[in-house]
Order: sequence, then C-alpha cells, then structure tokens
Amino acid sequence: MPDSISPKHYEAIRELVHRRAGIALGESKQALVQARLTKRLRTLDLPSYEAYLDLLSGPGADDEIVHLLDAISTNFTSFFREGRHFELLTEIVREAARAGHRKFRLWCAAAATGEEPYTLSMVCQEAAQGTHLDDIRILATDISTRALDKCREGVYETSRLDSVPEDMRKRWWDKVPEGWSAKPSLRAPLSFARMNLAEVPYSMKGPFDVIFCRNVMIYFDKEGRGRFVKEAHRLLRPRGWLFVGSSESLAGVADGFQTEHPSVYRREAP
Ligand SMILES: C[S@@+](CC[C@H](N)C(=O)[O-])C[C@H]1O[C@@H](n2cnc3c(N)ncnc32)[C@H](O)[C@@H]1O
Repeated sequence: MPDSISPKHYEAIRELVHRRAGIALGESKQALVQARLTKRLRTLDLPSYEAYLDLLSGPGADDEIVHLLDAISTNFTSFFREGRHFELLTEIVREAARAGHRKFRLWCAAAATGEEPYTLSMVCQEAAQGTHLDDIRILATDISTRALDKCREGVYETSRLDSVPEDMRKRWWDKVPEGWSAKPSLRAPLSFARMNLAEVPYSMKGPFDVIFCRNVMIYFDKEGRGRFVKEAHRLLRPRGWLFVGSSESLAGVADGFQTEHPSVYRREAP
C-alpha cells in the first residue's frame, strides 16, 4: 500500500504539473491528488511516492505524465452547460450563413468527455439547416487521453442527456442499452485530438470562426492564460469569437480582443 503523500513529494508533483500542463494546483488539493494518485500507484504496483517520482524523472517519464495528468484533471462537464452561450452561437452561425459563408470552423479547446463538442455539433447543424452553410467542422481537443476515449466513443448514460431537449435527442441520438449513442450525422463534423494548451505554439493552422475554451483557464495562472489568449488570437479569423467559462476572466490578458458579453470575446479586426 503506498504511503501518504508528503509535503515534499506533493510540491514536486505540483511543480511538474505546472511546468508540463500550466495547471496551478492549490495547496488545498493535496488530499484530492493523493486520492487520485494512490490508485495510479497501485496500478503500477509502486511502493511509494518516492518511487513514483523516480519514474516521472526517468526514461518512461513522457508516457507516465499523460497518466498523471489524466489522474489529476477534473473533467466535469455537461450538455448545454452555460446555455446562453449556445443561444449566441446559434445567432453567430445564422449570421455567417446570411453573409454567404459556406464553411464554419470551431475549436473546442477543453472538450473533456465530449458533452460540449457534441452540443456544439447539434447547435451549429440546427442553426445552419436550410442555409448554404454546409461545411461545418469542429476540432475537439483535451489533454486527457481518458476523456478523449469517451469523446470518441460518443455513448452516454441516459441521465446525462436530461439537459438535451427531447426533439434534439430524437434527431441526433440513438437509444442503446448503455444509454444514448451519437448518430453518424452528429459525429460527422467532429474530430478529436490530444493537445496540451500549455505547449505553444499550437500545431493547428486555423483560422477558426469560433473557439470555445471553457472552464479550463481557472486552473491556469495569469501567464498560462496569457499564453492561451495569444495563440487564440493568432488562430481566430478577424472578428472571430472566443467563449470562456462564465466564472473565468481574461482581465489583464485580453490584448486584441473586445468583450461582447460577459465571458464572450471577439477578436479585433487587424
Ligand atoms: C472542467 S473540464 C471543462 C470541460 C468543458 N470545456 C466545459 O466547460 O464543460 C476541464 C478540462 O480541461 C482539460 N485540461 C486541463 N489542463 C489542460 C491543458 N493544459 N491542456 C488541455 N486541456 C487541459 C481537462 O483534462 C478537462 O477535461
């Protein structure tokens, strides 16, 4: 049975997680981190945190860091979370269609287990219905491989879909013994990839019409938020939209953006 995590070992893990993922773990998170990592130590059959830290600084470190980040990241999410954002997105897609656009590109930068990108797919496709905007693509990324596996599977327990309106559930989801499975038409615009927001520059080209990066920057310090916002600015088309979580703020790091609504920013024209 692994021993409990000492302040020295917790500090070493905190430093590593901050350096590799930009995540600032507070001191109050020690018990949570210990609970999550104890399972990982058991799986690896390691006797102590000392041994775990040796592994994290040895030749297999890069592989194990993926597991470490999986274990400590909080993937809480839901369909239609912060619903006002999706009403605004409907307007943005309709406006793009009215302006004669056929393509619409979104990036969901902290997709967690997929509820957010599948919501984006439902909302954008419904908003574009009956228009010439027929080329929608949504890139969904996350640092957690465990969360991305769930995204790709696209199957959720029945209760998870309680927040999806019934007509949408019928149109976009198939009933399966495990709950609901995303129909091929709902999956079609989506692609999934692992990506660490702390590692700049980002590899994709853009330009995106819309970026959703919600409820992940709360874990970043000001420097990490600034790094992300600079990259988002580079990857958005002029006048493109950036959505963040409603409890998040870009105060002091939002150069080149104007605030359109609380937690909704728009890239200034160059
Ligand atoms: C609380 S969930 C938010 C999910 C969704 N955006 C929402 O608002 O419902 C935070 C997600 O951010 C991911 N994450 C944390 N640090 C990250 C990083 N450095 N790069 C990419 N994703 C990260 C976690 O794995 C987790 O899935």
